[in-house]
Amino acid sequence: MRKNIVAGNWKMNTTVPEGVQLAKEVVEKSKEVPAEVGLIVATPFTHLCPVAEVLKGTRVELSAQNCADKEKGAYTGEVSVGMLVSTGAKWTILGHSERRQYYGETDAKLVDKVQLALAAGLKVILCVGENLDEREAGKHFEVVKTQTENVLFHFTAEDMKNIVIAYEPVWAIGTGKTATAEQAQEIHACIRKVLAGKFGAQVADDTTILYGGSCKSSNAKELFAQPDIDGGLIGGAALKSDDFIAIAKAF
Ligand code: 13P
Repeated sequence: MRKNIVAGNWKMNTTVPEGVQLAKEVVEKSKEVPAEVGLIVATPFTHLCPVAEVLKGTRVELSAQNCADKEKGAYTGEVSVGMLVSTGAKWTILGHSERRQYYGETDAKLVDKVQLALAAGLKVILCVGENLDEREAGKHFEVVKTQTENVLFHFTAEDMKNIVIAYEPVWAIGTGKTATAEQAQEIHACIRKVLAGKFGAQVADDTTILYGGSCKSSNAKELFAQPDIDGGLIGGAALKSDDFIAIAKAF
């Protein structure tokens, strides 16, 4: 059985003290969320160590938002998977559209990053999603299918146990424009079909697929009620503990 997860992607927000405070509030309020719902906070690199201290012994898991595509060495400014593991992080987001769009993240680079992350024992939240032009041209299924295949077809059914997929239509991120529950559901079902074709029905059925893009407490219930939507990757609404927890309570 796949797990329901609500993950907060803090992006480039909060100072270290603000992040520590936010993490404390999430831990405190996590009691209100059914135990079977997985809770993750994805903080900036600088926050990982102090937030790991806050999360120690709690149900809330720690994630990074990216990792280097090299193991170690002379790569100024980069952060390796080994460094992430040493902070206490259990997860990393990879392939977020903001990284694809602004920092030239390619599917090929993502294969290397996912490989390194899994080898280091990190779990991965791999993001896919079409932009507005692609949606308007009716290419959304094709784009998401290609992104999924380009990265995940390099991995095994066993690897898939440690990979979660997040469908984030770029036109819905930070815009207040959520995909309708039907629009999200049909893409999630398509992703699951792609997984079934490669890895078999069991793996497809066991893989958690999150929705992201202007997800908030007012629309989470309808989104999470869809058969192939297993939770959310939350941006803006993850920066307020009440909003984040309200979303997690929407199951
Ligand atoms: P918003 O929830 O702010 O639209 O961001 C979604 C997102 O990009 C999460 O990774």
